Amino acid sequence: MSKLMDMPKESGYAAWLHYSRNSKVEKLPAWCRVIVVHGTDEVLQSAASELQHGLTSMFGQQPKISAVPVNTPFIALGTFPEHPLVAERFSAKEQAEVSAEGYRIRGIEMPDPAYSASHGNDDIKGQYVTIAGQTSKGVLYGVFHLLRYLQGGLDGKLKPTTESVHVPILDQLSNPANSIRMINHWDNMDGSIERGYAGGSIFYDNNAFTTNMERLRDYARLLASVGIQALSINNVNVHQVETELITDKFLPDVAKVAAVFRAYGIQIYLSINYASPIQLGGLTTADPLEPAVAEWWQTKAQEVYAAVPDLGGFVVKADSENRPGPFSYGRHHADGANMLADALQPYGGRVIWRCFVYNCKQDWRDRKTDRARAAFDHFKPLDGLFRENVILQIKNGPMDFQVREPVSPLFGALESTQILLEFQIAQEYTGQQKHLCYLVPQWKEVLDFDTYAQGKGSTIKRIVSGALHSPKHTNYGIVAVSNIGADTNWTGHLLAQSNLYGYGRLAWDPDLSADEIADEWVRLTFGRQGNSDGGTDLISTLKQMLLDSWNVYESYTAPLGVGWMVSPDHHYGPDVDGYEYSMWGTYHFADCWGIGVDRTTATGTGYAGQYFSPNTDIYESTDTCPDELLLFFHHVPYTHLLHSGQTVIQHIYDTHFEGAERAAHLRDTWVSLRGQLNAAMYEQVLERLEHQAEHAKEWRDRINTYFYRKSGIADQKDRPIY
Ligand code: GCU
Repeated sequence: MSKLMDMPKESGYAAWLHYSRNSKVEKLPAWCRVIVVHGTDEVLQSAASELQHGLTSMFGQQPKISAVPVNTPFIALGTFPEHPLVAERFSAKEQAEVSAEGYRIRGIEMPDPAYSASHGNDDIKGQYVTIAGQTSKGVLYGVFHLLRYLQGGLDGKLKPTTESVHVPILDQLSNPANSIRMINHWDNMDGSIERGYAGGSIFYDNNAFTTNMERLRDYARLLASVGIQALSINNVNVHQVETELITDKFLPDVAKVAAVFRAYGIQIYLSINYASPIQLGGLTTADPLEPAVAEWWQTKAQEVYAAVPDLGGFVVKADSENRPGPFSYGRHHADGANMLADALQPYGGRVIWRCFVYNCKQDWRDRKTDRARAAFDHFKPLDGLFRENVILQIKNGPMDFQVREPVSPLFGALESTQILLEFQIAQEYTGQQKHLCYLVPQWKEVLDFDTYAQGKGSTIKRIVSGALHSPKHTNYGIVAVSNIGADTNWTGHLLAQSNLYGYGRLAWDPDLSADEIADEWVRLTFGRQGNSDGGTDLISTLKQMLLDSWNVYESYTAPLGVGWMVSPDHHYGPDVDGYEYSMWGTYHFADCWGIGVDRTTATGTGYAGQYFSPNTDIYESTDTCPDELLLFFHHVPYTHLLHSGQTVIQHIYDTHFEGAERAAHLRDTWVSLRGQLNAAMYEQVLERLEHQAEHAKEWRDRINTYFYRKSGIADQKDRPIY
């Protein structure tokens, strides 16, 4: 059915969809010999063929797809309105509980064990497994749920049972928490990827679209399998060639790509250049209030939607890092976004407008201007001014995807504006997929953060799903910057696949824990591989590696929330003063007495005042500010005592010595699993972990030496510092 079948398992290409042969089951179990599907909908067809493929691969025999039930147990796939067998399995109330993209699965009821023992599973007659949704997308997600369950023996909160491979005893309702579950690609048409760490683009090469539609299809399958349903396919920085994506030159190609993803329920978006009316249209202005500009976009939208009628819309990075935008014309961002929104409105298109707007030409001598304040300062005053089809996209933190940042105070502050939370799966500042850094625990902390916007319980996850301010609206959700590329294993570091998997699962259900998600991913990826049967040791050891990794990475890099300290431009490796005297607004202000940024209202930039109470008071004072964010909010002496009981300087030394040791331990742990892992997979990961262990030492020594030289304070334990 696809390339996944042909690629060697050890390449990592099949990721969590390898559907390895289950040697414990001799032949196709009776309950899944026939798949009964009603309807010609292409997403439903994708669902049926995925199920057929998965079952064939796991059980070694192909199930039949049929439009009518035959006289055996079977699997019924379909929507409530279209499939009578599906509808009859659920009461009206049960059907009504399923949301637009949700699903219900009901398995064959478990016969009593005595019956089973005497008759075996093949004797269960007249019953069937049902995967149902309001829409075919729901059915597709339900199919992936069942396949996950059969492959890994579990799903989320369900625990594995041996019987499950014989008779699914599932009875499951699942609705996505977020209506929009999106991925942004930062791919350029020359084939490069901005902040891409896994090879070139799978979409483009040499300023043309790929012809490898099979790879795109496999990507669509991976995304759909974790519930992703929206995808922007070009970099938010839209350069010369990509500006032309919305012209005749490329629209036929965009349409082809859209078709591949449509079959898996995924809607395509394009990033556009705000200055297109000038660059493409020959106008002298892109002023959003100029009628000729609005007209130009209206005509453009007509053309674009003629080619791709279900295009999701446009993603816009405007007035940000030297990109054009409404500021050039003295207009604000609601003027800019609304003009585009009006052009897309007749076609149901959306404008996804990024809030990553700040002064990137700052003077490092000026300690009053604070980049962290910028998104709030620009967008809070515009709350309520945006059209119904505009969504503001806000990065999780106020700076830029650092290993540790507070949550952006714009969440919760916008009460009458639809929003998307933006994460970065690409590990730009977290080891660039050379270091292991499982980011789900970081994302969990963000999603669980309580903003107190409307009192206790105003968590980020309730804000971004729309539940807090706007329960009826569907233009809410989560988006993340992709970490995939043309490398055979998609993510460069094989274990970085866990971040793509985890992102999708979390966007669907933010209540899943980092541990549950790691558990699923490890089982699906490493279960039944190589010499291993996915034994408990292997699973729990790998899971622990993932769960530790963010903390390990944090401990040997920039300390206590201060951020940056990376080499400028490419952002890899330690350079403590790399950004200190730059124009990017990213400083740590270390001198011989202390370090940190005073963002208090009393004496600093006032950023701490952008939060609701009590967060604003918690951050304002060193007495209550959490240790891990201390240097983000405060400038303190090296001798300042943390809540942990340690001084700042000793904390820096301790965590950096320990961090490097723990990085070495990650490698050693992997080595200890050698006998249980497929050789090729073992080698590809080992190489990265060895590099990480070495590189962590470089981080340790650079950071420790820098602070020793600045502060003149010796390490209490007298370890080597240079
Ligand atoms: C970061 C990143 C850029 C990117 C930008 C953005 O600053 O380094 O490459 O363009 O974020 O999110 O727009």
